[in-house]
Amino acid sequence: MPLLEVVNLEKRFGGIYAANNVNFEVNEHEILGLIGPNGAGKSTIMHLIIGLYKPTSGIIKFESKEIQHLSIHERIKRGIAVMFQHSRPLSRQTVLENIKLAILEDKFQLFFKKDVEEQAMQAAKKLGLETMAHKYPSELPFGEVRKMELAKALALNPKLLLLDEPFAGLSHLEVEEFSQLIKELKEEDFSIVLVDHNVKAVKNIVDRIVAIHAGKIIACGTPDEVIWQGKSIKHLKTADIVNLGIAFVPETRELFKYMSVEENLTLALQKLKKDEIKHRLEEVYSIFPRLSERKKQPASTLSGGEQQMLTIARALVQKPKMIVLDEPTLGLAPVVLEDISKALEYMYRQMNLTILLGEQNLYFALKHSDRVYLLEHGNLICDCTMDEFLERIGEKYLA
Ligand SMILES: Nc1ncnc2c1ncn2[C@@H]1O[C@H](COP(=O)(O)OP(=O)(O)OP(=O)(O)O)[C@@H](O)[C@H]1O
Ligand SMILES: [Mg+2]
Repeated sequence: MPLLEVVNLEKRFGGIYAANNVNFEVNEHEILGLIGPNGAGKSTIMHLIIGLYKPTSGIIKFESKEIQHLSIHERIKRGIAVMFQHSRPLSRQTVLENIKLAILEDKFQLFFKKDVEEQAMQAAKKLGLETMAHKYPSELPFGEVRKMELAKALALNPKLLLLDEPFAGLSHLEVEEFSQLIKELKEEDFSIVLVDHNVKAVKNIVDRIVAIHAGKIIACGTPDEVIWQGKSIKHLKTADIVNLGIAFVPETRELFKYMSVEENLTLALQKLKKDEIKHRLEEVYSIFPRLSERKKQPASTLSGGEQQMLTIARALVQKPKMIVLDEPTLGLAPVVLEDISKALEYMYRQMNLTILLGEQNLYFALKHSDRVYLLEHGNLICDCTMDEFLERIGEKYLA
């Protein structure tokens, strides 16, 4: 039985769907990563679960009981607590007082509840904050303020902890320390939803991942799975992956040298009817007229640029849903680049294809991308829209 169930959850702000038909579960003793770019709807979902926002529609169940109509305090009593994305500590209260106030529903009760002090101190100790308990938040480094925010949630003794971007703004070392803390909390039987932008930051901590984009769940699974249209393709054979509609254009081209252009193109189409083969060939020849003029020529005698065109055309005749291109510009002269550029435009606009372009040539990549994943030494250092990329990083890279 899942601890938390979110069913057809929807939240609209005017015309924007911040959560659009969202469905997921959190099991007991599990860390679920909720991943998505800026504005995906992650914090909105956290706010809906704790009751800061009322859903436009949908159901939230905690321990099998519907809670979407309950107040925040009632949800906290049932066992849900949030560490919010943005710290807003009370600056005139000490760390301990901040934690105590989080425990109390009614702040005026502070002076009457004796066990609150003990409970707050325990939470502080758990996070190694005991020596700072009587300091003011402004005297603490940022990382410790974030720990105080976590202590505020922990002090409520929850079963389910919602952590909204706990790593944001922390140094590398602090992220490691915080990750360790989160793992220890899981060992103590807390269930956790961990929100972050980046799969990489959480993949060693979480049991499962739910990825959202523009309010919608786009994938879910274990962190090292490759998800295609909701299903894992990690264990599939290459041929089965191709049959799902993913075509690959390798950097090394891998053409059959002694076969003609047309033989290379039709090799994977044997099962189709003649008319369909003809139709598909006509389409790729219209994208690459140079190949049409060289139909009978062996692939080995084509120029480098023509070989690249044939490699792309061979992927396209399979009518894929997505095409993965590995460095299509490698070693090509500007004139050929222009042809490849036009072909990409055609695939995108006329064929409605999803294109995954692995490219070193930034100028070429910039012309053809909606979104950018920037990799450096195997690390994902940026995941953003093209506009955000140009604003934040592009200048540096272009320079
Ligand atoms: N109170 C609100 N009123 C109007 N629009 C809102 C409100 N809260 C969120 N939104 C909009 O809903 C969308 C999702 O916002 P949300 O804060 O949930 O994103 P997020 O995934 O947490 O992003 P980030 O990673 O930047 O924190 C955004 O387009 C945001 O502008
Ligand atoms: Mg957020």
